[in-house]
Amino acid sequence: MKALVFSAHKFERPFFDKLNGAAGHELHFVEERLTARNAASAHGFPAICAFAQDCLDRPVLSILRNGGTRFVALRSAGFNHVDLAAASELGIRAARVPAYSPYAVAEHAVALILALDRKLYRAVTRVRELNFSLDGLVGFDLHGRTVGVIGAGRIGSAFARIMTGFGCKVLVHDLTEGNALKTLGARYTSLDELFRLSDVISLHVPLTASSRHLVDAAAIEKMKTGVLLVNTGRGALIDTKALIDALKSGKVGAAGLDVYEEEENIFSRDLSSSVLQDDVLARLMTFPNVMITAHQAFLTEEALRGIVETTLLNLTELEAGGSVQNEVKLSKEMGKLT
Ligand SMILES: NC(=O)c1ccc[n+]([C@@H]2O[C@H](COP(=O)([O-])OP(=O)(O)OC[C@H]3O[C@@H](n4cnc5c(N)ncnc54)[C@H](O)[C@@H]3O)[C@@H](O)[C@H]2O)c1
Repeated sequence: MKALVFSAHKFERPFFDKLNGAAGHELHFVEERLTARNAASAHGFPAICAFAQDCLDRPVLSILRNGGTRFVALRSAGFNHVDLAAASELGIRAARVPAYSPYAVAEHAVALILALDRKLYRAVTRVRELNFSLDGLVGFDLHGRTVGVIGAGRIGSAFARIMTGFGCKVLVHDLTEGNALKTLGARYTSLDELFRLSDVISLHVPLTASSRHLVDAAAIEKMKTGVLLVNTGRGALIDTKALIDALKSGKVGAAGLDVYEEEENIFSRDLSSSVLQDDVLARLMTFPNVMITAHQAFLTEEALRGIVETTLLNLTELEAGGSVQNEVKLSKEMGKLT
C-alpha cells in the first residue's frame, strides 16, 4: 500500500528500511508533523501513518478524506489524538500498535524515579564542576516504600513487577482487577487510598474523558506531602497548573514527566534556536526536583522494532479490506475522548 509517513524520525528509518522488504509497502517519509496546514500533501495516498504528536482531528481527517485517504496507521498505542467519531463518519479506518515492548516505558518510569530520588542530574552536574559536596543530595530507599500504580495494563503491570523487585509495597488502581499482580503481592485499591498511602505514584492509564486531569488539585491534596509523581502516560492526565502549585508548596516532592499537556508543538522538535513560548512548561523546567523527557519512554530498539512490525502488518491488513486485528473502533468511552 502507498502510505505517507508523517513525523518520520531518523531513528525509525533503519527499522522501516529493514522490515518493509517483506511487507512491500510503498512508503514515503516526511519529517513534518501532520496538521491542517499540510494534510493536503497526502493527496493520492490511500494511507497515512501518524505518530503520537500528529493531529488527527475532524478538519485534518476531512482534508485527508478529500485527498483519497482511507486508512490511518498509528505508530502509537495511545489514540486520544484521533477524532474517532469523525473518522468513522468519513469512512476512514484506523489501526494502532496496542502492544510493543511495555518494558521500554516501564523502565523509563523507573529511570525517572531513581534519577529524581537520588538527585542524579544535580549530582552529575556538580561533579563536572569539581563540586564534590554531598549537601542537598539525600534520597530515600525505595525498598519498603509504597508505590501506587494507576492503570495496570501492559505497561503498568511491567512497572509494578519491577517495583516489587525493589522490595516496594505495590498498590494498584485499575478499572478491572487481575490475578497476576496479586500473586506478586500487589494490592488493588481505590484511587483515594492509593493517593493517601503512596510515596511514589506512576500513571499508566490511557487518556480518556474520565482520566483527563485524574491528578488535579483535589487529588494532590489527598496525597502524602513529598510524594514523587511520575507520568509516562499522557500529559493531560495531570492538571499541570495544579502540579506547579503543589511543587511550589512542597506538597509534591518531585515530578518525572515524559509527557506534557501541550507537548504537540514542542516535543520531538529541536527548538534550541528559538524562544520557548509555553510559560507553563518554562515554569516547570525551573524546578530542581522536576525531570522532563520529551516523550521518549518508548524509545528502545525493541520497542521501535515492535512498532514498525505492527505498523506494517496493520497497513497490510487495512489494504486487504477484511478484519484488522489492531483496528481502533469508536466505543461509548472512546467517543468521549478529549
Ligand atoms: N510515554 C510513552 O512513550 C508511551 C508509550 C506507550 C504508551 N504510553 C501511554 O501509556 C498508556 C498505557 O499503555 P498500556 O499499553 O499499558 O495500555 P493498556 O491498555 O494495556 O492498559 C491501560 C490500563 O488502564 C486501565 N484504565 C483505563 N482507564 C482507567 C481509569 N480511568 N482508571 C483506572 N484505570 C484505567 C485499563 O483498564 C487498563 O488496564 C497508553 O494509553 C499511552 O497513553 C506512553
